[in-house]
Amino acid sequence: MTSHLISLWDFNKEELRHYIDRALLLKKEVVEGIRHQQLTGKTIGMIFEKPSTRTRVSFEAAMYAMGGQAIYLSGKDTQLARNEPLKDMARVMSRYVDGLVVRTFGQAIVDELAAYASVPVINALTDLFHPCQILSDIMTILEVKDRPLDELKIAWVGDGNNMANTWIQAAARLDFELILACPDGYEPDAAILAAAQQAAGKPITVMRDPRKAVQDADVVNCDVWASMGQEDEQEKRLNNFQPYQVNSTLLSHGKPDLTVLHCLPAHRDEEITDEVLEGPQCVAWDQAENKMHIHKAILEKHLLES
Ligand code: CP
Ligand code: NVA
Repeated sequence: MTSHLISLWDFNKEELRHYIDRALLLKKEVVEGIRHQQLTGKTIGMIFEKPSTRTRVSFEAAMYAMGGQAIYLSGKDTQLARNEPLKDMARVMSRYVDGLVVRTFGQAIVDELAAYASVPVINALTDLFHPCQILSDIMTILEVKDRPLDELKIAWVGDGNNMANTWIQAAARLDFELILACPDGYEPDAAILAAAQQAAGKPITVMRDPRKAVQDADVVNCDVWASMGQEDEQEKRLNNFQPYQVNSTLLSHGKPDLTVLHCLPAHRDEEITDEVLEGPQCVAWDQAENKMHIHKAILEKHLLES
């Protein structure tokens, strides 16, 4: 059966750990000078209907570094822009490439492509989820913290968006405590939260107070206040999210070794101050690098095992 990566919810703890542990090993092997060529002869198609720097380039670089090829298709340059049905696109692309990496708006678009594709479909961000990003973020946390994941308390401060929804699923599947501080009206998806809370072994809590959220946390995550597709809400959100800025005052309420994550792109002095983003507690640049290593592990698994 074709194995897709649509949402972290479809995987158990061991399967999710496999991506992370494999990425850590691949990263180490690159430093040791080992060349990876296991995707020689393989090609992916990358259908991106939203902008991307990191995800696009790290998937392409991962593919080339393992001997494969990538074809980038911006949404507006395909017949999808002229309403070719998704089910036709999925079946046609499956005749040309060995996998599809898709960044788009509705989760239903990725679900439909996966339903009709006979090659793996990998979710490179939707309005609802960003699964590949959270895997590389957890990889980064493990590198920095040197403690088992289930002993860590992870905080999220800001919008209950695609990243927050995916963190919630990761917490339930990988068994760590998660505390989210979101403004009123900007909570994560209620159904995703309820399902995760029911399945989780550790608390997943949504609260208002960012200071309380970071108090005993080992890691704090942040992201833009207005995600791609929400540009017309930018002004309103700038006001509503002001108390949720990750700045030195907020960090002073946390542990001295509180690690700051930002998936980037960052809007300096909105969701995070320049001082914190450039400061010693922030690991955003390692996160960005680790996307490439996680993408290698994902491509290897889905392209070779499907
Ligand atoms: N973090 C992330 O997904 O970045 P891009 O939007 O640049 O791909
Ligand atoms: N929540 C952000 C993540 C960007 C990587 C967005 O969807 O724009």
